Amino acid sequence: MTEAAFNPFSLEGRQILVTGASSGIGEATARLCANMGARVFACGRNEERLNKVVSELAGAGHQAIVGDLTDPAARQLVVDAVPSLDGCVFSAGTAALAPMRLLSQKHLDAMFAVNYNAPVLLTQALLAKRRIAHGASMVYVTSIAQHVTPNATAAYAGAKAALTASVRIMALEGAKHGIRANCVSPGYVATPMLDGLEDVMNPEQLAATAPLGMIEPDEIAAGIAWLLAPASRWVSRTTLLIDSGQTLHVR
Ligand SMILES: NC(=O)c1ccc[n+]([C@@H]2O[C@H](COP(=O)([O-])OP(=O)(O)OC[C@H]3O[C@@H](n4cnc5c(N)ncnc54)[C@H](OP(=O)(O)O)[C@@H]3O)[C@@H](O)[C@H]2O)c1
Repeated sequence: MTEAAFNPFSLEGRQILVTGASSGIGEATARLCANMGARVFACGRNEERLNKVVSELAGAGHQAIVGDLTDPAARQLVVDAVPSLDGCVFSAGTAALAPMRLLSQKHLDAMFAVNYNAPVLLTQALLAKRRIAHGASMVYVTSIAQHVTPNATAAYAGAKAALTASVRIMALEGAKHGIRANCVSPGYVATPMLDGLEDVMNPEQLAATAPLGMIEPDEIAAGIAWLLAPASRWVSRTTLLIDSGQTLHVR
């Protein structure tokens, strides 16, 4: 390829794992990666929705992997199914709310199991089985909940903050193998997860928190794709905040 033809935003020929690909940000990421030329290994719990997404991806060779990533057997299934990966996107996650006064061990465990333990333990298992190629990019979806203070998110925000801290260590340890690790921290994004917050905030209140407008999943996927692509080659251990100005008031 001539220098002039080099496209720093292309994912042509890359093999990329996307968790949470059956919905929202993960689904948008899987679709965009495929459009940019990648072969996608898509994980989700809901088999019907996941298979539909995979069947609609551009290009060929994509694969659906069904399972609950809080289950070690499901993580092993992923490790066994994937080849050497050039990129991983950890988007699977859930947010449940509980004010501090009502916080329980069960709630804390549930938030950490899916938002912290699952991505960290899946990363460990992929590394241990040498499924992460030299030059690969790892992208973890965190949340502005760790930077600002949405009501009743102590457990969720704590899990995402812990994930950010571990990703920084992953970046340090990965560097000697040419592996990058970064976070994308979204503000409120119009996905099914947000529907679960309707009890505490109606759509108008949600929209009012975002001075630049409501974010769509595709727009988070674009940031993730940049972190996967050669364009961000020298970027590691950072958090890309995509929040439509929701944290502008935090000084
Ligand atoms: N939407 C927002 O406003 C927002 C803001 C900040 C951060 N985030 C973060 O963005 C990520 C994606 O959220 P989203 O908004 O796209 O939500 P979503 O539309 O509800 O999608 C969540 C995805 O995670 C998967 N998932 C959940 N629990 C899982 C488990 N135990 N094992 C395997 N997969 C699991 C779901 O699978 P199934 O659907 O197949 O069950 C689904 O594919 C999450 O990490 C979330 O914390 C979202």
